[in-house]
Amino acid sequence: MVEKDTLDCKTQVLKKPFLRWTGGKNWLIPHLSSLTSKINYNNYHEPFLGGGSVFFSINNTNKAFLSDYNSDLINAYSQVKNSPAELLKYLKTFPQNKDFYYKLRDSNFSSQIKNAAKFIYLNKCSFNGIYRVNKAGKFNVPYGYKSIDLKKIEQLIYSCSNQLQSASLSSAGFEKSMSNIKKNDLVYLDPPYTISHNNNGFIKYNERLFSVLDQIKLSELINELRNRGVYYILSNAHHPQVKKIYDKFNDNVLTLKRRSLIAAKSSARNLYKEYIFTNIK
Ligand SMILES: C[S@@+](CC[C@H](N)C(=O)[O-])C[C@H]1O[C@@H](n2cnc3c(N)ncnc32)[C@H](O)[C@@H]1O
Repeated sequence: MVEKDTLDCKTQVLKKPFLRWTGGKNWLIPHLSSLTSKINYNNYHEPFLGGGSVFFSINNTNKAFLSDYNSDLINAYSQVKNSPAELLKYLKTFPQNKDFYYKLRDSNFSSQIKNAAKFIYLNKCSFNGIYRVNKAGKFNVPYGYKSIDLKKIEQLIYSCSNQLQSASLSSAGFEKSMSNIKKNDLVYLDPPYTISHNNNGFIKYNERLFSVLDQIKLSELINELRNRGVYYILSNAHHPQVKKIYDKFNDNVLTLKRRSLIAAKSSARNLYKEYIFTNIK
């Protein structure tokens, strides 16, 4: 007999991500829904997926195209989508302590499902959920003295798995993933910060920095999309250089305030401003 609790857990939709992610956009969701409620869009695209907080919050019954440059991250999403039960089986066998954290951090599995369980474990137990790799591409974030609430992660993984059923996942740079966006689709773009603003020095998400040239390339691609009748929403650092790059299409420029969680000291968790650029009027 299947217990009712287990059934609920497998069918419910929590609209929350299964990962903690630096630069995550939970704070943006209310602002974003007030924009998306003004339009009828077809497919949804998110080429800088990270923790996917925006994707998991939306009510889109059409297809979603989700991608990120980080292939380990996309593997975790694929396993959550296709094999949540097996993934949870491995995650539950991992002891939750400092010694095991470092042992797991140094290990390499040939199985993609074990790699996904490792990715989620390190994300949950690392310092502030930061994703950072060294020059050799190895994850090097220290232990964060955090434990995983197994009941909660089980609910999140099944809920996210349900929401991912209509999603196509790919590990790719933004130039490639933005090439299949069609008229009346919506794209939400959340590139890494190039500019360290408001004393926030954390700009490195993976071994390859997002340069000013990448920002310019992205602005050119946005221009092509808007000319094709695609809806876009871009969030970015509140910095004059960013405004100069993206504010040239006569679209909407909004300034939003958020509280940063990146700084290690709680006294440094101040209010920061962020830009939203969009052609949704
Ligand atoms: C600010 S985070 C996105 C956070 C996400 N919106 C959330 O709510 O969790 C930026 C993401 O862009 C990815 N990224 C960095 N460079 C990229 C590139 N050239 N192409 C595609 N993705 C890239 C990083 O791996 C990171 O996950």
